[in-house]
Amino acid sequence: MFRFLTSGESHGPGLTAIIEGLPAGLKLEAEEINYHLGRRQGGYGRGGRMKIEKDQVIFRSGLRHGLTLGSPVTLEIDNRDWENWQVKMSVVPVNEQVEAVTLARPGHADFAGVIKYGHDDIRNVIERSSARETAARVAVGAVCLAFLKEFGVEIHSHVLSVGPIGDKDTHRSAVSSNFTAAYWEQVEQSSMRCGDSELEELMIGYILECKSKGETCGGVFEVIATGVPIGLGSYSQWDRRLSTRVTTAIMSIPSVKGVEIGRGFESSTLPGSQVHDVVQWSNVQGWQHLTNNAGGIEGGMSNGAPIAVRAAVKPISTLAHPLPTVDIRTHENVSKGRYERSDVCVVPAAGVVGEAMLAIVLADAWLEKFGGDSIAEMQRNFHAYIANIVSNI
Ligand SMILES: Cc1cc2nc3c(=O)[nH]c(=O)nc-3n(C[C@H](O)[C@H](O)[C@H](O)COP(=O)(O)O)c2cc1C
Repeated sequence: MFRFLTSGESHGPGLTAIIEGLPAGLKLEAEEINYHLGRRQGGYGRGGRMKIEKDQVIFRSGLRHGLTLGSPVTLEIDNRDWENWQVKMSVVPVNEQVEAVTLARPGHADFAGVIKYGHDDIRNVIERSSARETAARVAVGAVCLAFLKEFGVEIHSHVLSVGPIGDKDTHRSAVSSNFTAAYWEQVEQSSMRCGDSELEELMIGYILECKSKGETCGGVFEVIATGVPIGLGSYSQWDRRLSTRVTTAIMSIPSVKGVEIGRGFESSTLPGSQVHDVVQWSNVQGWQHLTNNAGGIEGGMSNGAPIAVRAAVKPISTLAHPLPTVDIRTHENVSKGRYERSDVCVVPAAGVVGEAMLAIVLADAWLEKFGGDSIAEMQRNFHAYIANIVSNI
C-alpha cells in the first residue's frame, strides 16, 4: 500500500526519499516537515554536526499547489556539510589523495560492512550506515503524521531514562492513557524530551559525566499514539500483525537494541489477572479498556487504546576515548581506535525517529483498512466504520 525508499550519504550532497501510496488531496507544508526535522536535531548530548546542519525539506514531486496528487512524493534534504566534503565524497574520480579510514569502531557497521562489501576504506560504509539517514525517515514520518492528523491521530515521544538515571516506576507511562497536552508541551520544552524536570537535570548531569570521561550513553524512549481506532493490522498472518510491524519499524532505528509494547518484559513477571486489560461498554464513551497494559495492541490489532511502544537505545559507538580495534588493511590490532566528531547521547533524537517510524506503520495500516485514492474517499470509509462501531451510543 504505502512504501518509501531513502537514499543519500551522510556527507554527500543530500538525502532523498520517495514515497508511494499517499492518497490525493493531502495538504503538505514544508514548515511542518521542517519542524520535525528540527526536533530530530535537538536534544541534549548532540555533537557538532547538528550545529552545521539545519535540515530543510524540498518537495520535488507529487504535489501541486500544496496538495498531494496521488503520485509519488519526492522529498530532498540538502547536507550543508557537503561543501566541506566535495573532494572526499565526490561521485566521480578525483586527482587528490583522499585518506582512507581503516580503524573499525566497535559497535558500528564499520567492521562487518567492509568485509561484506569488500571495501578497504571504512568511509564507504560509514557514509550510509550513519544515522544521518534517519533525517529522511523523519521527513517521511512527518508526511505520515500530517496524513494521520486528518483523522485525529497524535503521536508523541518522551525519554524515560538515560543510562542508569530513569523513571523507576517503569510501567507508569505505558499504562497511563491520560497524558495531557500540557505534559507534551513540557516534553517539547525539555532538552532531554523528558516530562519530569528533576529527572531531566539528573539526565543532563549524567551525560556531562559521560562526556568528561570520553564515554557515550544510551537510554529508553517511549512513543505513544492516540486516536488510533480498533482494528488496524490483523491476526490472520504473522506479517500483518500490527505488533510485528511496529516492533520491526522501531527496531530498524540505528542503535535500538530492544523494543517492548505496553508492559512488555514486565508482563512476563506478573499473574494474568494483573496484566490483561478489561474492556467495558459505556453508553457515553463506547468501548473502553480499564487499563492499557497491552499498549494498545491485542491479537496483532489495535484495540482502540493508545499505542505505547518503548525502545532501549545502546550507547553510541563513537567514543572520544576509543576502544581497542583492528586496522582492516594491515590486520594490526591497535590499542586505540579513531574518533570522528560525534554525539554523546541520542536518546531524545531517537525518540523523534521513533515517532516517525510509528507514523509510517500506522499510515500504512490505515491505507490498508480505509483505503482510497483521495483523502475525501478515505474520510468516508473511516467515518462509516467509526459510525458503525459507536452506533449503540
Ligand atoms: C539520531 C541518531 C544519531 C546518531 N548519531 C551517532 C553519532 O553521532 N555517532 C555514532 O557513533 N553513532 C550515532 N548513532 C548510532 C549509530 O547510528 C549506531 O550505533 C550504529 O548504526 C550501530 O548501531 P546498530 O548496530 O543498531 O546499527 C546515532 C543514532 C541515532 C538514532
